[in-house]
Amino acid sequence: MPVVSGSSGRVIGEALAPLLGMEFVALESRRFPDGEGYVRVPSDSIEAVRAEPVVLVSNTYPDSGVLETILLLEAIGDVRRGNLSNYKGQEPQSLPDVGNGVFLAIPYYGYSRQDKRFSPGEAISARVIGEMLARCCDGIAILDLHAPAILEDLSVPVEFVSAMPEIAELLANEVEPDFILSPDKGAIARATEVANLMGCEFSYLEKTRIDAHTIEHQPKDLDVNGKVVAIVDDMISTGGTICRASDALLRQGATAVHAACTHGLFTAGAISRLANHVDGVHSSDSLPNPRAVVSSAPALARGLKILLE
Ligand code: R5P
Repeated sequence: MPVVSGSSGRVIGEALAPLLGMEFVALESRRFPDGEGYVRVPSDSIEAVRAEPVVLVSNTYPDSGVLETILLLEAIGDVRRGNLSNYKGQEPQSLPDVGNGVFLAIPYYGYSRQDKRFSPGEAISARVIGEMLARCCDGIAILDLHAPAILEDLSVPVEFVSAMPEIAELLANEVEPDFILSPDKGAIARATEVANLMGCEFSYLEKTRIDAHTIEHQPKDLDVNGKVVAIVDDMISTGGTICRASDALLRQGATAVHAACTHGLFTAGAISRLANHVDGVHSSDSLPNPRAVVSSAPALARGLKILLE
């Protein structure tokens, strides 16, 4: 059974395949000179893609990742339906349809934060993308989706999986925190899971986002004097949320503050901004980044095993 990827899922796909007892197969993906994407299931992989169910690992980020994911799913779907008709006249032009069996593993689901119509006239982008993907696969595993409710009733089964167990293990081995903090209410479930797995104290802050670059936390007394604290969030983008939370912790006597997340977006300058506010930053490899120290593969494997059963 193959785990396949285009350009964005190769490292995770190679780690995922042995966890599922599968082989990894790289598909062709490149860019035309004008920037448009090109994908292909290579001739020598057609048999593998048709033989058994297929898992595609692909991010829907950045925008080119959304398109590449859809093009790859369509290319795999055509191969499995036996539609190989081509203008070069390469044989065979058609084969029997081998039926359903295309599963998508998404390490980072782009557009996840536009999961509501905050103002009239907006697209609910997270839903739009989910519906497009569901049209061309038979099940989806998504790693630490910001707010899973938006995809709960898609037309194919969706497994929402989390890298928090692996993040807890990393923190236990490398940081040994006394206290876990969620920097906002949205991260409470994930941070609580980490705190429970580690047997640590836990609390959370209440955050108001003023704009994409500015946030405010409500003042709160935290019992962190003399303690090592790890702030746990689903993603770090500008780093503003973590920097403000860390400042509050240090003002209240924390001796060291670390940040951990599944999705390290680290938009312009975030890594150096964070270096001035925290003692360490730890991320999964759902997106390639200089702080990727936790593999996304075990969490995705947990979800895919359920889908494949
Ligand atoms: C939002 O609720 C998310 O969970 C993160 O807290 C947020 O996206 C982090 O963004 P930034 O790093 O730009 O503050």
